[in-house]
Amino acid sequence: MERSLVLIKPDAMQRELAGTILSRFQQEGLRLAALKMLHIDRDLAERHYAVHAGKPFFNDLIKYITSTPVVAAVLEGEKAVERIRKIMGATDPARAEAGTIRKDFGLDIQQNAVHGSDSVETAEKEIKLYFAGDEIFDY
Ligand code: RTP
Ligand code: MG
Repeated sequence: MERSLVLIKPDAMQRELAGTILSRFQQEGLRLAALKMLHIDRDLAERHYAVHAGKPFFNDLIKYITSTPVVAAVLEGEKAVERIRKIMGATDPARAEAGTIRKDFGLDIQQNAVHGSDSVETAEKEIKLYFAGDEIFDY
């Protein structure tokens, strides 16, 4: 059993897509273990995306991800990390496979609707950035 961090990003929040996107994952059998809405501040954004510090798109990414509140979720299931990445589709919606969230709802390579952890190790770190232990449920 794995857990992964999912964020409904600002472009999707602006278009009332949070419920639609969460239900895509739930319909695939991923279980909701934690859920909250928050406005990411600069410090959290820089920690979450530290791996991209110094890249040309970094400043825009920080500005974008802190531009509106987001919905953060922990989703759980067998091979959750890999399955979630598949359901999301490629980073650039133009290159994403048909039927993926980013193909259906992404606007461009930055405003791509959803975040999902890219490995089990990253997921563990990211979940700790967003959720305290007692905010994650086993049921
Ligand atoms: P994420 O971390 O958000 O799930 O997305 P990802 O793994 O598919 O893509 P990643 O390479 O980690 O990039 C993180 C986010 O930065 C924005 N981005 N903009 N303008 C650009 O060239 C560019 N490249 C990436 C996107 O919001 C991307 O999801
Ligand atoms: Mg990534």
